[in-house]
This record gives sequence, C-alpha cells and structure tokens, in this order.
Amino acid sequence: MKLYLDTANVQEIREVHALGVLAGVTTNPSLVAKALGEAGERFDSEEAFYARFTEIVREIAELVQAPVSAEALATDPEGMVEEGRRLAALSEHVVVKLPISEAGLRACRVLADEGVAVNMTLVFSANQALLAARAGARYVSPFLGRVDDIGWDGVELVRTIREIFDVHDLGTEIIAASVRHPQHVTAAAVAGADIATVPYKVLKAMVRHPLTEIGIDRFLADWEKAKQEL
Ligand code: E4P
Repeated sequence: MKLYLDTANVQEIREVHALGVLAGVTTNPSLVAKALGEAGERFDSEEAFYARFTEIVREIAELVQAPVSAEALATDPEGMVEEGRRLAALSEHVVVKLPISEAGLRACRVLADEGVAVNMTLVFSANQALLAARAGARYVSPFLGRVDDIGWDGVELVRTIREIFDVHDLGTEIIAASVRHPQHVTAAAVAGADIATVPYKVLKAMVRHPLTEIGIDRFLADWEKAKQEL
C-alpha cells in the first residue's frame, strides 16, 4: 500500500517528502482553507483566492512529482468538466477530485475519456465505488473515519470494495481516506487499499514507538559506557 499525505500545507508536505515515503498528496477545499487560514493569508477577491489555490496545487505537484488530488468546486457536470480541464492543465501530476454524484459521474466519464485522472471522493458505499470505477475514475476514495463516525465500519467498506474490484477486474485504485489514527492505516493495508492518504499528525505517529525510543537510548548509553570501560 502506498502512502499519500492528506494536507494542503506545503511545509508539512516538504517535511514528509524528505522521509522518502511519499507517493502522492490529496487536498480538499477544507484543507486548502485551513492551510491558507493558518498561514494568515487574506484575499481581496474570489478570483485571487482561487488563483492562490491553483498556485498551491502547482507548488505541491512540483515538489512531490507524484499524483496530487485537487478538488473541483463546480457542482454541475459542464462546470466540473471545465474546471477539471483547467486543474489538470496545471501539472501532469494533477488528479481531479470530483464528488460522487450524478454530476460527478457524468463529468468523470468525459474527463476520463480525455485522459484526465479522476479521484472520485466522498465515497461511503461499495455501490458508489463501483459506479465511480465504471465511470472511468482512476481512484476512488472511501472515507473510513466518517463512516466510523456514524457507527458503521470504514475498514469493512474498503474490504468490500477491494473484493468487488478484484472479482470484476476493475483497475481503479482504492485510496483509504478520512484516516484518523495509525490503526486505520494498518487495517486499510490489510483490507487491500492501494493507497492510504494520511494526515500529517497520523504519519508522524506512525513513525514512533516507545520501545524504539527506549531502544535507541539504551544502545547509545551502552556504547558510551563501553567507551569509558574498554
Ligand atoms: C480525502 O481525500 C479527504 O481529503 C480526507 O481524507 C477527508 O478526511 P476528513 O474526514 O478527515 O475530513
């Protein structure tokens, strides 16, 4: 299973990219708004705000040289197609994110036929994933955490989608999204997700283990002691 970072914060991406584990990035409008808000950026027009969004997408793509999902904000099929084409033109690495809906499916089919990679997002059922794959989506994003939030089983959803895609030979890649903790990542990997898109905090938590830290301290202490005694 590949690992993506689920953020629009370029600093976070830069840091994780340096670890050598990053295979892509996903953003969404909430994450872009958060990153710009935290950076204290302000805009005097809607156009300037959107232009900054596209600039960030280009910057991330340039940095990671790997798939970067950027979500279209249009809600009608024609608007989604037009916006999707503009986003895709930003970089060869841009993946157009579209929500699963009738408009999203129609736009997905048009864009996919033009060779644009689409990540169908906000997927909460196996049937939505099947529809996305049939509409030519390159990726489908089931939202584990939000499924868990309503008392259902997000990992089970990933497992079911995996089975359907395998039985019916569908090449659409499954991105486990809305990941909330490291156990989600492990469970998504076992369930057969192709990719997990992970928030920065979760990725940092994946690295650490108290026994690793204790182990490093002990090795260094033993080495120091031996240097004095031997
Ligand atoms: C996926 O691509 C989304 O950006 C993301 O995983 C949403 O997760 P959330 O439920 O934490 O907002």
